[in-house]
Amino acid sequence: MTLWQGRFAEGMADEVAELSVSVSFDKELAVDDIAGSKAHVRGLVKAGILTDEEASSLIDALAQIAGEFAAGVFAFAPTDEDIHTAVERRCIELCGDLGAKLHTGRSRNDQVATDLRLWSRRSLLDVAGVVVALQEVLLRRATEAGDAYLPGYTHLQRAQPVLLAHHLLAHGWALARDVDRLVSTVERLDVSPLGAGALAGSSLPLDPDFVAEQLGFASRFDNSLDAVSDRDFVAEALFDLALLGVHLSRMGEEIVLWSSEEWGFCTLADQYATGSSMLPQKKNPDVAELARGKAGRLVGHLTGMLTTLKGLPLAYNRDLQEDKEPLFDAVAQVRATLRALAGLYATVEWHQERMQAAADGPTSAAVDLAELLVARGTPFRQAHALVAGLVRESTARHVPLVELVQAHPDLGDAGAQLLEPGVPVVRRTTPGGAGPVPLTEQVERFVRRLDVDRSRLAIRVQTLRAAPVADAAPAAPAAPAGPAGAASSG
Ligand code: ARG
Repeated sequence: MTLWQGRFAEGMADEVAELSVSVSFDKELAVDDIAGSKAHVRGLVKAGILTDEEASSLIDALAQIAGEFAAGVFAFAPTDEDIHTAVERRCIELCGDLGAKLHTGRSRNDQVATDLRLWSRRSLLDVAGVVVALQEVLLRRATEAGDAYLPGYTHLQRAQPVLLAHHLLAHGWALARDVDRLVSTVERLDVSPLGAGALAGSSLPLDPDFVAEQLGFASRFDNSLDAVSDRDFVAEALFDLALLGVHLSRMGEEIVLWSSEEWGFCTLADQYATGSSMLPQKKNPDVAELARGKAGRLVGHLTGMLTTLKGLPLAYNRDLQEDKEPLFDAVAQVRATLRALAGLYATVEWHQERMQAAADGPTSAAVDLAELLVARGTPFRQAHALVAGLVRESTARHVPLVELVQAHPDLGDAGAQLLEPGVPVVRRTTPGGAGPVPLTEQVERFVRRLDVDRSRLAIRVQTLRAAPVADAAPAAPAAPAGPAGAASSG
């Protein structure tokens, strides 16, 4: 029997159960559902509906249920429609009539919204911590890369040489924005819907501020209809994860290219590469390809959620049950991808000679030649045309560019020197640029940014732990992996 059976003469058809029962996936919310119920029990005491003794029996039962979930021995009943009814049903088994008081003044509509916000708050902070761990790996590889350089590309054509460290940190900064987005989504979703009831609040003297405080929410809802129907936070979380996934996909694509024989810029460690079932010689970049492939799935989850929300009338509609699987999956996929990519980047071997040989092409200093002419008084557009002419002539007549440069009266030796290997990259001296001079400052800024983000995350995790009802908090972000050393070796 379902918990709402009273209204019905007949039970649910099997195919309806198959369509609507959500316990197979929403059991993921068990700890949050129990935390929400504990807070609600305390709220019922405050409202004079439960005595202290009744509350402590219910809280003991809820703690026992939490233990059953933790030990993996919670026994679902065939009538459990979702995690909320499963926990309540077990509470009634354990406490009899007292258990039947648990749902007073509450609906699954405010309950599920509460659970999902608790879950999202914890999970997004956890993902942000794993992003920081990947950023730490990129920082370490950047500081170890020393003066290694490679071609920087536009249109996937060689453009200007850049330091490998600079290139790696470019990904690091994109990830910094991902951390920022995740934290700010958490800040916005940190609102308790508990007390909104089915849609309109309650006639009982419930105190939504009090239960919000119990769960460590920053505030409570302002409007009960909005509280039970708002899934903006799910869409936002899915966007943050999709964009993060797009960043990881770009990194993956780059590793696929760089590890190919054609590029030959790197070799993957055995642990982070895969073989072929038929071709004995193959060493494949599947981790990088999966990082690239997951992005499609993540974008799909975001699109699906927005489409589900579009056109829903106020307030709760069962369509909203479709919010959980994409969110749970997106978090799990992004977390797994981040961890595997961190391992890949930590262990990949760079081939500096190949990178540098590719970057030292005769035209890599073309803009430096133009800028030399500019320094000598030629307007840039004319300088550009002059150098372009030399490049064209060199290609057409098969004459080394350096000879033409040497012979040119406005370029000569000074021009030829610019074509020496490794010269162009050190000439990128402006703030935020690709050469060694600005890199030192960039590394310092990156280290500071990581420190700030680590403490933002640590403070939020502490706040979750300090809530009166705090059953679940992510691990605090790991201690920095030697940022002081990193800062000084840039
Ligand atoms: N499993 C449901 C969901 O995820 C819980 C809320 C059910 N509410 C209802 N009125 N049927 O949305």
